[in-house]
Amino acid sequence: MTRHFLRDDDLSPVEQDEVLTLAQQMVTDRFGHQPLAGPQTVAVIFDKTSTRTRISFAVGIADLGGVPLIIDAQTSQLGRGEPIADTARVLDRQVGAIVWRTSGQTRIEEMAGASRVPVINALTDEFHPCQILADLLTVRQHKGGTAGLKLAYLGDGANNMAHSYLLGGATAGMHVVVGSPETYQPDAAILAKAAEIAATTGGSVAWTADALEAAAGADVVATDTWVSMGQEFEAELREAPFVPYAVTEQLMSKAKDDAIVLHCLPAYRGKEIEAAVIDGPQSAVWDEAENRLHAQKALLSWLLARNFSS
Ligand code: CP
Ligand code: NVA
Repeated sequence: MTRHFLRDDDLSPVEQDEVLTLAQQMVTDRFGHQPLAGPQTVAVIFDKTSTRTRISFAVGIADLGGVPLIIDAQTSQLGRGEPIADTARVLDRQVGAIVWRTSGQTRIEEMAGASRVPVINALTDEFHPCQILADLLTVRQHKGGTAGLKLAYLGDGANNMAHSYLLGGATAGMHVVVGSPETYQPDAAILAKAAEIAATTGGSVAWTADALEAAAGADVVATDTWVSMGQEFEAELREAPFVPYAVTEQLMSKAKDDAIVLHCLPAYRGKEIEAAVIDGPQSAVWDEAENRLHAQKALLSWLLARNFSS
């Protein structure tokens, strides 16, 4: 069975720990792991725009001794409607793994269903699991671990980041609280799955409409844009309801004094986060952005080792 990484709970708690521990080794020994030497090619396909994901996969695949093949879907037949499964069948005879940023989760599930090489989710409308691996690595670096820590996510509770924090945070044994408007709550099935995982790791998950309650005593405060890719047409609607959930200095005063701030970026200063917070001393967002590199290299290495040995 080919192992894929389509959502955060595709890694068990033990497996997530293995990937993050390998990522920590890669931080200090950047060029010491060459599982793609040969070199093998890894396809990285974008249906949506990207800065960090594109850069970190391209650099990371090269660091691992491989060749990154960055594909803009709009310039490929996939963008003209060639079936996803046919694309997978063409790719998996030539590349070692497929990384894809797309819209609906069912699309990447279809790719994985037809691919004999690992498929990695580089963001869908529902999840952003590579980002959460980087975030958890950042928490490890700043806090010495993840288990038992409180992570408060403020903003759009129904988006990919909220869902991935719930699943990935629960897997890491964290207490994840999503603070969002009632009309932008997490998907009930994902919340329930995260609660199930948390029950096995000593973590917990919760949703509240009260931003201050969410932030109270938090070790990690995270946020994301109020307008995700593909939602630009409703940008105006997606402003007023979120204002109480902005990560401001006032909100940060409710978190622990040594709390760190995460944002997957790109950030909109003055909207979901105050400039004084993202550019202030508690911000760990540049470490977080760098950690995309290390976390994804570890994930790729881990998945490739699994697939070759099974
Ligand atoms: N955080 C993140 O995924 O950034 P990009 O959209 O720039 O890849
Ligand atoms: N929720 C955002 C994350 C960007 C990295 C989006 O989907 O656009």
